[in-house]
Amino acid sequence: MTEGGYGLTTDLGIIGGGVMGEALLSRIVSGRLYDPEKILVSDLSPLRRDTLREQYGVEVTENNADVASSASVVLLAVKPQIFSKVSPSLDVSFQGMGSPPLVLSILAGTSLSTLSLGLGEKVPVVRAMPNTPATVGAGITAIARGVKVSDDQFATARKIFEAVGSVVEVPESLMDGVTGVSGSGPAYVALMVEALADGGVAAGLPREIASQLALQTVLGASQLMAETELHPAILKDRVSSPGGTTIAGVAALEENGFRSAIIQAVQAASQRSQELGTQ
Ligand SMILES: NC(=O)c1ccc[n+]([C@@H]2O[C@H](COP(=O)([O-])OP(=O)(O)OC[C@H]3O[C@@H](n4cnc5c(N)ncnc54)[C@H](OP(=O)(O)O)[C@@H]3O)[C@@H](O)[C@H]2O)c1
Repeated sequence: MTEGGYGLTTDLGIIGGGVMGEALLSRIVSGRLYDPEKILVSDLSPLRRDTLREQYGVEVTENNADVASSASVVLLAVKPQIFSKVSPSLDVSFQGMGSPPLVLSILAGTSLSTLSLGLGEKVPVVRAMPNTPATVGAGITAIARGVKVSDDQFATARKIFEAVGSVVEVPESLMDGVTGVSGSGPAYVALMVEALADGGVAAGLPREIASQLALQTVLGASQLMAETELHPAILKDRVSSPGGTTIAGVAALEENGFRSAIIQAVQAASQRSQELGTQ
């Protein structure tokens, strides 16, 4: 806990109360990780600030420097494009501190070296890549540790992201691959669910029933593999009887390059992440 310029003892500061900032905030509050009165969120939009204060009971401000100067952990959740606008005021606040707060950045494609350059070299930074299922507590976040981060600080980072799902530690060099799989992955799965439902409609099912069947099938198959630790190939073999319906469906998928399409999607997204990081 740090007594700061905001005149409050703030345990956690969040800069940017948008989609991902709110997803993390809602789970942190409902999981009682931090007392809402000890959380300070900054956002430019007065409407967002009012909503977050009313919904979660947190403190709000329009001034990012308030957060930087009062919190012991700062979650940076603005869009990557505006990091260069936000960082100067944070840098100034951190400069005046003996031990600056731990910064957790979820900015896609923004490297630890770019973050250090913008925030000051002495600031301990963890780079993280969560994904949208975080909103319902079923996310997965990859975290990469900056050089100034202590063991205790890294444990804190892990605990915060565990509030919205699972956490894996990776070297920063793997973040583009992570983005291609779990960052962008929810969109591929959404396409899969939509296509599965479309197939059902093509086979004569009413849309509502087809959608329910498709969604629960993806959810159920994932849960089965997760809970039994079954290899995907084993699950596929178990539901494919000789000369049966499933193997006919699998053969059609193979003929149309289903697996290759997904592999290429991950490669394309990883490549794009790398390009965005160097812009
Ligand atoms: N959504 C995802 O699936 C996902 C996954 C992994 C990582 N991320 C990362 O998470 C970060 C946030 O993404 P998001 O989807 O949550 O975006 P978002 O909904 O646009 O949230 C960003 C928030 O920051 C506010 N903001 C803008 N300028 C600000 C400033 N100068 N000071 C304080 N707040 C400011 C925005 O307000 P206005 O709307 O008024 O501009 C908005 O409420 C991004 O860096 C993204 O790469 C997102």
